[in-house]
Amino acid sequence: MFDHKKLEKNSILMTVCILLVVSVGGIVEIAPLFYLESTIEKVKGMRPYTPLELAGRNIYIREGCYNCHSQMIRPFRDEVERYGHYSLAAESMYDHPFQWGSKRTGPDLARVGGKYSDEWHRTHMIDPRSLVPESIMPGYPFLATTPLKYDDMGLHLKANAMVGVPYDAAMIEAAQADVEAQVDPDSDGVEDLQKRYPGAQARNFDLQPGPPTEMDALIAYLQVLGTMVDFSVYKAEDNYR
Ligand code: HEC
Repeated sequence: MFDHKKLEKNSILMTVCILLVVSVGGIVEIAPLFYLESTIEKVKGMRPYTPLELAGRNIYIREGCYNCHSQMIRPFRDEVERYGHYSLAAESMYDHPFQWGSKRTGPDLARVGGKYSDEWHRTHMIDPRSLVPESIMPGYPFLATTPLKYDDMGLHLKANAMVGVPYDAAMIEAAQADVEAQVDPDSDGVEDLQKRYPGAQARNFDLQPGPPTEMDALIAYLQVLGTMVDFSVYKAEDNYR
């Protein structure tokens, strides 16, 4: 019979045995991740961000919006009633890093796309209290006057491609042109943009003339959040067939 007393009195032996037992659990949980092709169920409608939306996402991260806003609707009744369908894993599959967040000083933004007009966002970003008097959100008026730096968007797409976002060579090549097309709905580039990024909305997001601003990018990003999957036709069971 195994002498348990010996084990309990010998700390080295005890440590070795603990490591053995714990590693069994670790292997069972971790090993499958290496041979499963994907742990995320694919969902129709998900596409990578357009270069303009990605630029907006970068600004969202730069300004620390995630300190006050989450992007993760939990599958609880109160959350679903307030924010809409709970977040699917696939909805953040192209987010590197994801913006789930851990603090909600302001509301969750996972489905804020389409909730307000561009004009609302513009006014709210410049001075939140002009629309929501009790708001404690800081204003970001400089976004409307800061030209967007987008000559390097190809590199941003490339970096995302390296971690698995399906940006192809043509998308990387066209990144700069796609930014310009998306803020100019009458331009010739819009058709190509929408071929590369189905359903991409092209318009003058910051509602002011001139070259793309950081406000254009941030509003384009906010307006696409949570809108890629069509929940009027989405059924979770479809993914198991
Ligand atoms: C100090 C915390 C704080 C920071 C930082 C912050 N917000 Fe907010 N945000 C709030 C609060 C509080 C509200 C709710 C009141 C309001 O609408 O202004 C809010 C509301 C919003 C809304 C409206 C959401 C809805 O469903 O009504 C949007 C959109 C938004 N914030 C975007 C942003 C963006 C983009 C940034 C970064 C540039 C940002 N916020 C930074 C606190 C913050």
